[in-house]
Amino acid sequence: MRDPGRVAILISGRGSNMKALVEQAQGYEVVLVASNKPLAPGLEWARAAGLPTWALDGKGVDKQEFDRLLSAALHDHQVGTIALAGFMRILSPWFVDQWRGRIVNIHPSLLPKYQGLDTHVRALSAGDAVSGCSVHLVTEELDAGEVLGSAEVPIEPDDTPESLEQRVLAAEHQLYPKVLGEFVHK
Ligand code: GRF
Repeated sequence: MRDPGRVAILISGRGSNMKALVEQAQGYEVVLVASNKPLAPGLEWARAAGLPTWALDGKGVDKQEFDRLLSAALHDHQVGTIALAGFMRILSPWFVDQWRGRIVNIHPSLLPKYQGLDTHVRALSAGDAVSGCSVHLVTEELDAGEVLGSAEVPIEPDDTPESLEQRVLAAEHQLYPKVLGEFVHK
């Protein structure tokens, strides 16, 4: 079996969770940063940090082909665990099956509440007193796999989606490295 401590991080954007995973890596090693957006700002940071990167523009590439090439790159780097960090592309059932039980994701809500997008707007509209973030296993169903860990963030009366997002993001940066470190040792 592959070493679960060899982690690939998949990003599409700024990559603040990726940074947190790299900077607070304990018990695992980040061996690849991969993206479906060749111009993702997070990729530049990864390169500057000396990490191997892989990128392929997801637009215009057949979905199966993208997932096949991504999977091949992960195998080339002997990846044992895949951490999604703002990866805005749904992985095909084929890919999920290839890597079953080895893909985790961070989501900005207390799952199973608010799967999908716009979690902060939805938490505020519902009048919730508490929000937070969750790390979960990735399955074929969006944001529905087993929750591996979560952190609560109280909602303040004057919170906007932006202010809440900021505080939840700070909690994500604490939670994700901790849960990933535990997960790879299971
Ligand atoms: C985070 O809010 C994460 O929970 C969600 O996408 C966002 C990614 O942000 N899945 P970043 O690229 O890690 O800064």
